[in-house]
Amino acid sequence: MRLVPVNCLKGGEIIAKTVIDENGSRLLAKNTSFKSYYKKKLQARGIDRIYIADKLSEGIEIKDVISEKTRLRTINLVKDTLSIFKATQQIDVTQLKTSVIQIVDDILSNKEILYDMVDIKSKDDYTYGHSVNVAVLCVMLGRKIGAEKSYLKKLALGGLLHDFGKILVPDEILNKPDKLSKDEFDIIKQHPSHGYQIFKDHPLLTPISKVMILMHHEKVNGEGYPLGITKNQIHEGARICSVCDVFDAMTSKRAYRNEYTIVNTLNEMERMTKDHLDEDLFKTFRGMICYYPVGTTVLLSNDTIAIVEQNKIGSIDRPTVRVIYDLKNNEEIFRRVDLSATKELKVERELISEEYMNNPSILRAMRP
Ligand SMILES: [Fe+2]
Repeated sequence: MRLVPVNCLKGGEIIAKTVIDENGSRLLAKNTSFKSYYKKKLQARGIDRIYIADKLSEGIEIKDVISEKTRLRTINLVKDTLSIFKATQQIDVTQLKTSVIQIVDDILSNKEILYDMVDIKSKDDYTYGHSVNVAVLCVMLGRKIGAEKSYLKKLALGGLLHDFGKILVPDEILNKPDKLSKDEFDIIKQHPSHGYQIFKDHPLLTPISKVMILMHHEKVNGEGYPLGITKNQIHEGARICSVCDVFDAMTSKRAYRNEYTIVNTLNEMERMTKDHLDEDLFKTFRGMICYYPVGTTVLLSNDTIAIVEQNKIGSIDRPTVRVIYDLKNNEEIFRRVDLSATKELKVERELISEEYMNNPSILRAMRP
């Protein structure tokens, strides 16, 4: 399977990964055929690329970090927990705790710890999808630093609930597509305290999950919010949450901007270790993120286009690729190259949707 821009699909292609809508149900189901009228439906939700299975990408498989079942179930539980709270002011996290066990078990069942995926979220679904992804990343980073299973479960629950306090922020501020005024930003900045107030006396949450909610916007230089505390005063769980939150937010498309590529995100986060993010945790985090996830399309340094076939620990920036097109000679080719075994060739950059659509040669190469 591979990731392609929705714009270049004609209809009839096989959908390789389920796309979830804002209600947590399947917008596009895996293994069904793409219909051209889906394009509008997807674009209205801010989804401009999906995974398809075709001849060009035959044999390329993506290993999910957590199963689709666990992901869907958890997204729906986060959503239900929020809406029940909105209606009744009651919080029931019993079921979320079973989801947390599933997330941790799914992740621990993988031998390797690599985040090798692009998560497609619709813009309306951002809150729930983001919570689940932050939880997944927190568990992965926790595992990488050698945390025990009980700590991983606390990290997962804190990750799922870290932004819960946003429920008390008015929707028009939360979803405002334009730049926020200072007053509006001050209201958004209250969400960690709101979240903490909601959960501080909850018997089913441990102190670690609670401080993740309270401290996930603190910065190591003391200029974060709400407490303004510095690195060693910020609980490690919250520093983990902060790294994962920033990564998932930047790699997601939002109402006010497009997503960053993974490489741009990691470079920006590297700069953020000077004032915001924990440097050691970020270094560890960087080591588990594949720069070019399986199924993405990349431009190589010799002007050829390739689909990423496989990533390996230790060479996360040099995947094995399937070269499919030579841009210099405008011809199709088919060659497998392990970039970790050659010094002559490297990935120049990930090709993004706009590049496909504006460059006829690239589009020709990529069309299913
Ligand atoms: Fe937040």
